[in-house]
Amino acid sequence: MEERRQRYLVTSALPYANGPLHVGQIVGAYLPADAFVRYLRARGEDVIYICGTDDHGVPITLRAEREVKEPQEVVDYWWTHMDETFRRFGISFDNFSQTSRPLHAGVTQLFYRKLKEGGYISEAESKQMYSPSEGRFLPDRYVEGTCPVCGYKEARGDQCDNCGSWYEAYELIEPHSKVTGGPAEVRETTHLYLDLPKFSDRLREYIAGQNHWRTSVKNFILGIIDGGLEKRPITRDIRWGVPVPEPGFEDKRFYVWFDACIGYVSSTAEWAERIGEPDLWREYWQEPDTKLYHFIGKDNTVFHTTMWPAQLMGCGEDGEEQFVLPFDVPANEFMNLEVIVDGERRAMQMSTSRNLAVWLHEALERFPADPLRFYLSSTLPETGDVVFSWRDFQSRVNNDLIGTLGNYVNRVLSFTEKYFDGELPRPENPSEEINEVFADFKALETRFDERMMAPRPRDALGELLAMGRRANRFFDAAAPWKSRKENQEKAREDLYACCVLLGSIAYHMAPYVPDAVERLQGFFNGPVERISDLEGMPEEYRVTGAKPLFKRIEDPEIADAEERLARAAAG
Ligand code: 2FM
Ligand code: ZN
Repeated sequence: MEERRQRYLVTSALPYANGPLHVGQIVGAYLPADAFVRYLRARGEDVIYICGTDDHGVPITLRAEREVKEPQEVVDYWWTHMDETFRRFGISFDNFSQTSRPLHAGVTQLFYRKLKEGGYISEAESKQMYSPSEGRFLPDRYVEGTCPVCGYKEARGDQCDNCGSWYEAYELIEPHSKVTGGPAEVRETTHLYLDLPKFSDRLREYIAGQNHWRTSVKNFILGIIDGGLEKRPITRDIRWGVPVPEPGFEDKRFYVWFDACIGYVSSTAEWAERIGEPDLWREYWQEPDTKLYHFIGKDNTVFHTTMWPAQLMGCGEDGEEQFVLPFDVPANEFMNLEVIVDGERRAMQMSTSRNLAVWLHEALERFPADPLRFYLSSTLPETGDVVFSWRDFQSRVNNDLIGTLGNYVNRVLSFTEKYFDGELPRPENPSEEINEVFADFKALETRFDERMMAPRPRDALGELLAMGRRANRFFDAAAPWKSRKENQEKAREDLYACCVLLGSIAYHMAPYVPDAVERLQGFFNGPVERISDLEGMPEEYRVTGAKPLFKRIEDPEIADAEERLARAAAG
């Protein structure tokens, strides 16, 4: 009987469209989600994978002003850059949108109206810095002044870099605009607020029920809720953002975190429109049995587990637009960089402003996507911070990807071609050793499945390597190079079994190194499938024109990549 397919909606955090992507972002929100999605697709589940750029927010306006461009020009440029980089890296979004598109503004305003009808929006006055010479209110990042605590002269609008104190921008002494240097003054301004406290009980209940969440994430959020949620301002005195559909708010825009997560919904709606089924997005967002996953970096956790679920709850209040809540919010930790400083290897924090980062588009100029994906998958920050190291990249690729997996594939395929004309018909009765290795593989497949579905693609990768080692052990013990001379039939049977294992290995490799598996399928003719799912053994395997799947990473390539980081660190 056919099992019913489970519906999944998977998202990756919408990256700010104001600069290139670096590997820290990739391991946080994109690669784990992509591996998970590719696996779900292979398992035949009903899944869509949604993303887009986050086009609003002050850093984008700042960049536009610096470059003397319109914000739209800036975000369009970076959208194209990211779209291309994601494609080259094999990130398989079903839709990659932008929050600056009209559709998104409409969905955001719909959320706002529903929240207002539900009684979750209020208005209040607050103090805000204003620049008379520019004729506008200044976001905190635009303000500088003397720290009210320590007297440091170049203190930022919301925090002092010298003593670390936090304060309101109007508490600064002699505040001035960072852009013009002219004086800034305090003015009253009116903003809209989302009444988060009204959601506290429902949020607590919802989070407490998520027993499959990472405990660290769950406890962190419960702590925040118990500490007391506050009303959050959802508008800003800025000109770039989604317009606020209220009289008197013409000169204001929604705060970027009010509309960012709504971008997941609008991108899904855009996808549905694009494939010619404009209502299909509702199935994914509003059928209660959808499993909604948000892959994010840990710095985005609070928004995705308090404000966002509250927005979803509040929007559905009248029963018309009832949304599912996130089933899981896999939040990943950070990635540091190994850098050579004065001849010593040190782990350092990435710094995008100092160019001390491994940019994905640059890395893709040095190496193909597959080895990069493989290494990064093996070091995903699932449980704690990790360190990116070019040297580890080389050894993981050469030893694990090539030494364990690629080598097995090569040995089996070249042997089959060379000594059996690339044809292996199904044997009559498999030997005991063959039954044994199949049983071991099925157990490994189950372990892989559990880990991938956790979702912990890095742990799952460990099971894939275990499959590779087990398969190599079988090949070595069968020693077809010997048996083909003494017992041709046994050699053929063993090699056939090796192909069955290979089909399973390829199936489990595909989420990590999709290009290689696609190439493999050009010369390996047989099911790429879990042994647990095979319905009877295939009639035969055929191999023609097999080539090695991967190229070793050589020392000079690594030295060059390391050199580039060392230069950045030296400043
Ligand atoms: O931290 C960031 O890069 C944000 N742009 C993430 C937004 S995730 C979601 F809300 F869209
Ligand atoms: Zn200070």
